[in-house]
Amino acid sequence: MTLSEARNIFPHLSQKVYGKELVYLDNAATSHRPRQVIDKWVSLSESCNSNIHRAVHHTADLATKEFEDARLYVQKYLNAQSPDEIIFTSGTTQSINLLAFSFGEAFIHAGDEIIIAESEHHSNIVPWQMLCERKAASIKVWRLDSEGKLDPSDLELLITPSTKLVCFAAISNVLGVLNPVKEIVNICHSKNCLVFTDGAQHIVHSEVDVQELGFDFYAFSGHKIYAAPGTGVLYGRRELLEKLPPYMGGGEMIDTVRWEKTTYAEVPHRFEAGTQNLTSVPTLIPALQTASMLRQFEDEQERIKKLVYDYLTATPGFHLYGTSADLKNKIPLFSFTVEGVHHEDLALVLDKMGVAVRSGQMCAEPLMDHFGVTGMLRASFAPYNTYGEAQYFIESLEKAIRMLR
Ligand code: ALA
Repeated sequence: MTLSEARNIFPHLSQKVYGKELVYLDNAATSHRPRQVIDKWVSLSESCNSNIHRAVHHTADLATKEFEDARLYVQKYLNAQSPDEIIFTSGTTQSINLLAFSFGEAFIHAGDEIIIAESEHHSNIVPWQMLCERKAASIKVWRLDSEGKLDPSDLELLITPSTKLVCFAAISNVLGVLNPVKEIVNICHSKNCLVFTDGAQHIVHSEVDVQELGFDFYAFSGHKIYAAPGTGVLYGRRELLEKLPPYMGGGEMIDTVRWEKTTYAEVPHRFEAGTQNLTSVPTLIPALQTASMLRQFEDEQERIKKLVYDYLTATPGFHLYGTSADLKNKIPLFSFTVEGVHHEDLALVLDKMGVAVRSGQMCAEPLMDHFGVTGMLRASFAPYNTYGEAQYFIESLEKAIRMLR
């Protein structure tokens, strides 16, 4: 399959905005869906719409099978040991809120510490702050070093016997640089603390083997990897999940309910209260199949990375956040500022040229504070983007800056 044939399976990519071909470079916010995902979504709604894990009738049975097949597929995709280690959520944010509540109930006590990397998205900060307030625990920030990177040796010094958990994104949604994930996990384990890894950006650009990487907990969103929105995954090692109480009550998360006492279902069902996103979760199968299929275009991604990286680092007036000596560790995600031009104005002008980028604080205010900026412009490429689009982006950027200066 050629890249242009692969692009044809994503209907959204062929549209025009303001009469211009759409060049969609906001993939870190959400990616587009291939035809197979849309078809699955529609066909489940049309012919298989019944609540799961409850009724014995035919379509309920089919819907349950579709949902549980998705769990098996995700288990294999992540190389988790058991499907019971896969919890379905509405996205990374819900995965982290679930974990913060349930882990907090089981493991966090007054005086404990949670370490969070400075480069985190708000969804990997705020739920932990809420937990720490509830439990009189505290947060320690793992600061970026002078080069804007997370240095594992700084983490080593930060962990104390009171540290119960370290939270970090494998790849920040602003910096786009792959952190030394395995080294970080090994440091945490050697110091007897657990680790949560936010994989929202990571899973799109890397193959993930949760056993090989030694993850305790890992989360990602379906909508950033071509699935229907409102889908997400929390992976947890079974022996840990078994120690966690439920996050929400109701529906099929129970074992027995009595006025005196309710007991809970086994993992993962005890974490899946209420009606699940039954027409969307099964789209994870064609979505992850698409992600695997798109890996054949890695060379195009490498060329895009080099082109945009070289341009942004060599051109006067640009400041790129998230640099890497080795481009292998950088995904094609570029957050930058331009001297004398406001990011929001630039994004609006680019939009009129058909180029969709993100501007603002990128849900990472502490990181903006670190760099002393009020916002950035971010171009995030997906494996379906082309070298030609990257060239058009650079031309449009130059034109927009000339207009605004
Ligand atoms: N977390 C998403 C982003 O980085 C929404 O844009």
